[in-house]
This record gives sequence, C-alpha cells and structure tokens, in this order.
Amino acid sequence: MHPIELENIRKSFNNVHAVNNLSLKVTGGEIFGFLGTNGAGKTTTIKMLLGLIKPDDGKLSLFGKDAHDISTKKRIGFMPETAYYYPFLKAHELIAFYGELCGMDKKTIKTRTEELLVEVGLENTGKKTLKTFSKGMLQRVGIAQALLHDPDLFILDEPFTGLDPLAKIHFRDLILKLKKRGKTVFFSSHELSEAELICDRVAILKEGSSVYDGPVTEIAGDGKSNLERIFLHVLKDKKSEDINKQMEAGK
Ligand SMILES: Nc1ncnc2c1ncn2[C@@H]1O[C@H](COP(=O)(O)OP(=O)(O)O)[C@@H](O)[C@H]1O
Ligand SMILES: [Mg+2]
Repeated sequence: MHPIELENIRKSFNNVHAVNNLSLKVTGGEIFGFLGTNGAGKTTTIKMLLGLIKPDDGKLSLFGKDAHDISTKKRIGFMPETAYYYPFLKAHELIAFYGELCGMDKKTIKTRTEELLVEVGLENTGKKTLKTFSKGMLQRVGIAQALLHDPDLFILDEPFTGLDPLAKIHFRDLILKLKKRGKTVFFSSHELSEAELICDRVAILKEGSSVYDGPVTEIAGDGKSNLERIFLHVLKDKKSEDINKQMEAGK
C-alpha cells in the first residue's frame, strides 16, 4: 500500500488550473522530491493530501485510505511552508502545546520535547520566545512539531527555503535519518541541489501537471545530465538552458 497515491487529480481556482491531471505514487521508505517553480501547484497538492481542500476530480489516497480518515492523519507529520506560531511562546512550550493537541500525556510530552529539541538543535534556546527566532530556527520548530507523534509519513512544504548552508546540512541529515528509520518523506522544493543529494525519486511539476517522474540515480548516473539540466529541459526553459550551456562552456 502506497503512503501517497494520486490519480488524475485536478484542482482549479476560478479559471486557474492549479493542479491539472496529476498522478503519482510515493513508495514506503523513500525520499520523494516534489519539484517545480513558484506557482506550479505544489502547495495546492499538499493541501489536498492533508484534506484541507478537496480535489475537483480524481482519486487520492494515503496508506490506501481517504485523506480525511483520522487513523491516516495520525500517521502524517506536516511542516507548512510558512508557519505562524504564537510569538510569545518558547520552543518547548509550543511543542508541548502540540503534544496536548495530539492527546499525549504530560510525562510523555516532557520527555519527547526534550528529545526533539536536541534532535533539531534547539536545546539551548531556553527562555527565548519564538518572536526572536530566525527563519532557520522557526523551520527547526516546524520539523520538531512534525516529528512529535512519530509519524510514518512526513509531508514537508519547502523545508529548505530560507535556511543558511549549515542549517541546510543539518536538515538534510535529519531527513536522511528519518529514512533510515523507515519513514517516508515527501517534500516540495525548488532547491534542486538539495533534492539531488537526498531524494530517491522526484516528480517535476509544470502548471499543475507532472512533466517528469523518475529516480534520481537515473538522472545523475549517466554523467551528462544532472537534475538542473533535466529540470530546464522538461520545463522547456530555453533561455535558462542557453545560459547554463554558456556558463559550462566558459568553465
Ligand atoms: N486559494 C487560492 N485561490 C486562488 N488561486 C490560488 C489559490 N491557491 C493557489 N492558487 C493558484 O494556484 C497556482 C498554484 O499555486 P501553489 O500550489 O501555491 O504553487 P506552488 O506551491 O508550487 O508555488 C498559482 O497560480 C496560485 O496563484
Ligand atoms: Mg508553495
């Protein structure tokens, strides 16, 4: 049973086809990169996966069940693209708050919060409130709340955006550790280099449709193509392809 399965999904807003006949399958235990430029339909797809909005058409299932099934929701950890956390809370208070929402008991919340803060590198933030946190620190809070209930599937919307190089390395490592623990990670991104480093498979979205879906090793394996080249090629962005070729010729 696939953690994520989409079949001919469509979603329009007024006359904009945000997602257009999208089909894809994410296999258990893989890191799947959901790539595309701004406005390609990534967040809209994620919102449908989470049951926040309904597709106009098509079939969507998570672990073989409906997106609205409560038992399915429990198996998902979600990190939004932009999170608005209550600014006067401290990191441990926010995580504890989510723990209470998940129905965890006080003792478990306490031990789990301590573990998570170490795992995401926020253990020394002590009395600092979230309003003083940098973008990278808030991203760490976001992943901590997604990890809290030890879900099987992680859906992360643009997790690498706005992170400094060190935070990116840390985050990459965290995602790889999740995979080692048998978890499935589905993340949207326009950071091709990150996707190339950690993904087993990617789909490239253009105007709501998948224009490429395949394993990353196949792309990188022939020595000639990398993910950036494939990306430009399938998006048929002639201008950027030419710039890329000129830069390579100048090397
Ligand atoms: N709630 C909405 N109302 C109207 N248009 C929307 C809405 N959400 C997304 N869109 C449009 O759908 C398209 C895809 O958006 P989105 O899924 O956010 O893209 P991405 O996450 O890939 O940047 C864009 O053209 C966007 O303007
Ligand atoms: Mg988005």
